[in-house]
Amino acid sequence: DGKKTLFSGMQATGNLTLGNYLGALKNWVTISDDYQTFFSVVDMHSITVRQDPAELRKRARTLLTLYIAAGLDPEKNCIYYQSHVSGHAELAWILNCFTYMGELNRMTQFKDKAAKHADNINAGLFTYPVLMAADILLYQADVVPVGIDQMQHLELTRDIAIRFNNIYGDVFTVPEAYIGKAGAKIMSLQDPAKKMSKSDENPNGSIYLMDDPDTIIRKCKRAVTDSEGIILYRDEQPGVKNLIDIYCACTGKTPAEVEKEFDGKGYGDFKMAVGEAVGGVLKPLQDRFADLSKNKEYLDKVIKENAEKASYFSNKTLRKVQKKVGF
Ligand code: ADP
Ligand code: NA
Repeated sequence: DGKKTLFSGMQATGNLTLGNYLGALKNWVTISDDYQTFFSVVDMHSITVRQDPAELRKRARTLLTLYIAAGLDPEKNCIYYQSHVSGHAELAWILNCFTYMGELNRMTQFKDKAAKHADNINAGLFTYPVLMAADILLYQADVVPVGIDQMQHLELTRDIAIRFNNIYGDVFTVPEAYIGKAGAKIMSLQDPAKKMSKSDENPNGSIYLMDDPDTIIRKCKRAVTDSEGIILYRDEQPGVKNLIDIYCACTGKTPAEVEKEFDGKGYGDFKMAVGEAVGGVLKPLQDRFADLSKNKEYLDKVIKENAEKASYFSNKTLRKVQKKVGF
């Protein structure tokens, strides 16, 4: 219906953090009305690292439920498991044949992951960016909201699409990175030099979307700050700055307003206010998550219908590509 197409996805590895919410999920909800959207739980990417099957299945379902709980209407947004739509694997194979080893060798995330999983440097880990290209190109996505760490992969996706189009004519839409209002980059509460991440081993560094109010306040109170004792938004106070970012994202206030609000107050009061603001934002999401989780039939129906919808759109691209290469 004239709307541009947006694709994005997240891996179901680890529990989602406040960083994932404020930096990605919340923005997806904000922009979703303006696009035809595909939000995938990219479980095929997850098995590039060894997983416990039952655990992966459970986390994938939790993630898909969180997409909805965060405010993505599954009637209007296609919310589905990557593994339920066979076109991802089929297109990835074809694109593998249009991607050079040299290009994949240059991917910094592969180097990082290979170093981290030295006992299991499998071919899937190496060709992961090609599967990501297939995810995006399969839906003829115009825009892809991606974090900085995925920009190199998106560039590769564009190169593959352009290469394919140069050989066979206009088959793929060449996607752009979605550059919206810069979503806050949330840092670890225990080390403000590191981003808050679901793969962080220190659970006190992250606020998880499922944390209860007391846990959230406790983690905020323990957040690493400094000995300045004043609440100012500046690089010299990275811990305080991060807490201000979190507070602003949760309340809609500006850093200047926050500095004023806590002028003359101590870190204790400020941290308490941050904890309460975060709890206030997460509460409705947690309530909706609890309701949805009780409604197994509804979720199963959403999962089935959206996989069919995603298959319908992806098959259109896949048929075109198959014909071009001679199948
Ligand atoms: P993680 O490091 O938590 O595993 P991913 O790399 O899977 O996160 O990223 C999932 C999405 O969440 C991406 O869009 C990424 O940009 C966003 N994101 C992750 N961590 C943060 C953060 N600390 N602050 C803001 N956005 C984040
Ligand atoms: Na990741």
